[in-house]
Amino acid sequence: MSQQLQHDVLVIGSGAAGLSLALNLPGHLRIAVLSKGDLANGSTFWAQGGVAAVLDDTDTVQSHVEDTLNAGGGLCHEDAVRFTVEHSRESIQWLIDQGVPFTRDEHASVDDGGFEFHLTREGGHSHRRIIHAADATGAAIFTTLLAQARQRPNIELLEQRVAVDLITERRLGLDGDRCLGAYVLNRNTGEVDTYGARFTVLATGGAAKVYLYTSNPDGACGDGIAMAWRAGCRVANLEFNQFHPTCLYHPQAKSFLITEALRGEGALLRLPNGERFMPRFDPREELAPRDIVARAIDHEMKRLGVDCVYLDISHKSEDFIKSHFPTVYERCLTFGIDITRQPIPVVPAAHYTCGGVMVDDCGHSDVPGLYAIGETSFTGLHGANRMASNSLLECFVYGRAAATDIETQLDQVSMPRALPCWDASQVTDSDEDVIIAHNWDELRRFMWDYVGIVRTNKRLQRAEHRVRLLLDEIDEFYSNYKVSRDLIELRNLAQVAELMIRSAMERKESRGLHYTLDYPEMLPEAKDTILTPTR
Ligand code: FAD
Ligand code: SIN
Repeated sequence: MSQQLQHDVLVIGSGAAGLSLALNLPGHLRIAVLSKGDLANGSTFWAQGGVAAVLDDTDTVQSHVEDTLNAGGGLCHEDAVRFTVEHSRESIQWLIDQGVPFTRDEHASVDDGGFEFHLTREGGHSHRRIIHAADATGAAIFTTLLAQARQRPNIELLEQRVAVDLITERRLGLDGDRCLGAYVLNRNTGEVDTYGARFTVLATGGAAKVYLYTSNPDGACGDGIAMAWRAGCRVANLEFNQFHPTCLYHPQAKSFLITEALRGEGALLRLPNGERFMPRFDPREELAPRDIVARAIDHEMKRLGVDCVYLDISHKSEDFIKSHFPTVYERCLTFGIDITRQPIPVVPAAHYTCGGVMVDDCGHSDVPGLYAIGETSFTGLHGANRMASNSLLECFVYGRAAATDIETQLDQVSMPRALPCWDASQVTDSDEDVIIAHNWDELRRFMWDYVGIVRTNKRLQRAEHRVRLLLDEIDEFYSNYKVSRDLIELRNLAQVAELMIRSAMERKESRGLHYTLDYPEMLPEAKDTILTPTR
């Protein structure tokens, strides 16, 4: 039997964004935080480098703002950048207060006003401003916030719950447009339950799984973006898919990132013959913004016909490497690579979705009662290329802003009345799951080949043609068979891929992460690509 549940706030996603929002809401509200797998399912747990913030007395808000604007290729919304950076110090203080064990700076003289935590550097940053917990910052943050959430009796943490679609007044044929909750597949029972809520928050992460090779965990399927689109929200700048320059290249190493902090601490990129190449591409060399480094690697790999390039930190002391990068050291060692002595084989892989659901500075979307925060949202912060470690910061700043906004509206919004149950009367169990598996592979491969680091009109047209065929097939499947996690994710991934391709085709220039051989120049005016759903 499917269930009807009611909460004041339904938070779909248990990563940095979802947990920080939940923890910032008043303790008397009944809150559900859902994860489609286990609670550590999202990207947050895997974050390595750290969180960018203005923490050192020699650093300034203006400098962090300017670096973000420069990395963003003229497309960042300066108000969003300023808002985020101005709230960076208090966000970090909040994390410290929650108990996050950031790495301390053993050389800091706190009595002389020095900052007690170690700050590292990453691409695009002109200062050391990345606070971190060695090279496993995401795990430290996630574990701490989860422990805090577990202590709150008003927060229900629900695993194996896959949101299928949002429930809106429009969808129910009622007057108005408000979001009233969501239909959610409970993977333990196989039933689709109805969650009614006064406020619904999408904190579902990014969509890098749309590509064959990615640094992201399996769930990064753009579910929130697709659900918001179907519910009537605008989306923006989905052509800007960030490829992280350095993921481990090894046949058995699925999605393992080699943090940019290695380059921040002096690691050098080399060709197979040992030659450095970044100085030929940018005066900032290995610490140029990510779009430039990833494109340079892609260019050199294609020019030389090689499978990878190498990242070398072996000139640093063994102690330094093991204490700063214990996770990378251990992981590489399991594949027989001793990074204190050998260079690491690396390739670029899809890493971050810069575009997403359009929101205001409180994380509120176009649909009343519906918020989007974290990687699933588009706040205007990242422009055409996100600067390293600004993403977690965005989760905390907007998580808190959305919580504050919800709090101001509590008096005006009541609980929705009983909502109709999910109708599964017309569907049967699928006996053709091979179609789902095949479509997954096909989609991710053509996105990699045709909508990757370098694009052309012809490649985009091919991708568009294929994604339309896939969408038709998936729609038919969805109408006839019971929903499963794989089917829900495939449906969303194909929808987001279509929006990405469409956005890429609309941009007739090269800017930041969007590089096309047909329009290699940047246009004088920077404009967002905004797509509006037909209602
Ligand atoms: P996530 O942490 O991805 O969480 C998404 C949540 O939504 C999960 O709980 C998932 O189960 C849930 N969910 C999704 N769809 C559904 C659905 N349909 N129903 C129910 N639940 C759903 N950024 C930095 O700033 N610094 C770093 O050092 C850094 N390192 C990174 C390293 C790696 C390997 C990766 C992959 C990313 C890194 N990033 C980093 C990016 C950053 O980690 C992410 O952008 C950020 O963690 C996203 O947080 P989030 O809360 O928005 O989503
Ligand atoms: C990394 O550690 O290189 C990832 C940082 C980020 O994606 O912001």
